[in-house]
Amino acid sequence: MTAKAPAPGELEPVERAPQSELRALQLERLKWTLAHAYENVPHYRRKFDAAGVKPGDLRSLADLAKFPFSTKADLRDNYPFGLFAVPREKVVRIHASSGTTGKPTVVGYTAKDIDTWATVMARSIRAAGGRPGDMVHVAYGYGLFTGGLGAHYGAERLGCTVVPMSGGMTERQVQLIQDFKPRVIMVTPSYMLAITEEMEKQGIDPKSTSLAIGIFGAEPWTPAMRQAIESRTRVDAIDIYGLSEIVGPGVAQECIETKDGLTVWEDHFYPEIVDPESGAVLPDGEKGELVFTTLTKEALPMIRYRTRDLTRLLEPTARSMRRIEKITGRSDDMLIIRGVNLFPTQVEELILKQPELTPYYMLEVTRPENLDELTVHVEMGSDLAYGGQEARHAAASKLEHNIKAYIGVTSTVRLALPGGVERSVGKAKRIMDKRPK
Ligand code: DLL
Repeated sequence: MTAKAPAPGELEPVERAPQSELRALQLERLKWTLAHAYENVPHYRRKFDAAGVKPGDLRSLADLAKFPFSTKADLRDNYPFGLFAVPREKVVRIHASSGTTGKPTVVGYTAKDIDTWATVMARSIRAAGGRPGDMVHVAYGYGLFTGGLGAHYGAERLGCTVVPMSGGMTERQVQLIQDFKPRVIMVTPSYMLAITEEMEKQGIDPKSTSLAIGIFGAEPWTPAMRQAIESRTRVDAIDIYGLSEIVGPGVAQECIETKDGLTVWEDHFYPEIVDPESGAVLPDGEKGELVFTTLTKEALPMIRYRTRDLTRLLEPTARSMRRIEKITGRSDDMLIIRGVNLFPTQVEELILKQPELTPYYMLEVTRPENLDELTVHVEMGSDLAYGGQEARHAAASKLEHNIKAYIGVTSTVRLALPGGVERSVGKAKRIMDKRPK
């Protein structure tokens, strides 16, 4: 607890703390976390013992590199509650994320963890330009997914009026935005596009609504997508990052005044970048896999959790904490097509360079004759859809050419009619991998 709670809307002192103070706080909290995990979670004790390390071996922040990593497999192997460091009765909330395979990943929070989460989410909304008194429309899904409730508690903590809309019922979303006039919307960027499209369908100019700030995350999105959303609406599109294993949304947040990557709330989450192959810690500025250690979590301390998200650590700008570069992919989403690595966001950037196309797309990978084939399904804008055959041919050829030239993969582009690519109500599904396993 800080001595003086900030006035609503004001920065917390730690957001401006000098480096020395922040590092000292991290070291103290890291020592606590390692001891807490070792003493209360048999799994961590076994792992530390096997690696020949004890919590007391951590004397400096750099010593963290001696400790073993955690992965999603650790959570799965200890399903559902085996990694909890407090008695189950002290856990006031459970969330879970459904993986693509097998059992969900289960996470838990004590009352204090929920309080911390609300604090970092309030901080995130404020960094995005939200203020006490704002109305906040939450269209992240409520339920086991951390998006809805995470946003909800943060907005309430900041002193906002929350509309707990959840995802889906797109026409209703538009109606409530029209009627209630929220200033802030919190939603995945792909679902924001679907809401925007619904406004247009109803004859509402998306630029005419009350929305001024969009806090978008839970999936990778590109600077080109930011531009597409900002030019079609009147919102500042701000990036928010998080993952269930660490807390949910609110691990890192872009600041509206700089829009230059996401400030990591380093007083609660300690970031490292490691080489995805060797696991060696990389210096700030180098690209690799993002790893987090929680610094204050009671119910589920996570030690060196490998997020699989690829990014770099950058020096502080708008706050005294380091930033991560916008995350445009995670190693799980990387397609390897005939030996070439490709992230869906790379294709997204190229699609958005062609104004006659739309950001509704899906990548399909097949292997008909032992060779991988990439088909890009992308929706045409209405001018192209109802224009001439020649223009459509030119648009498809141009995209195929750019994918080959910029990414190095031969592809077939299939243009879909407006509405022909499935809309997401939460995280967008960008890949249909039909290759035999
Ligand atoms: O998606 C938490 C969240 C909710 C974040 C709402 C932001 C807003 P999970 O379902 O556990 O948690 O998924 C976490 O989503 O490891 C990233 O791969 C991806 N992700 C989340 N935010 C971003 C972002 C929530 N801003 C996984 N940019 C993470 C890129 C993101 N990827």
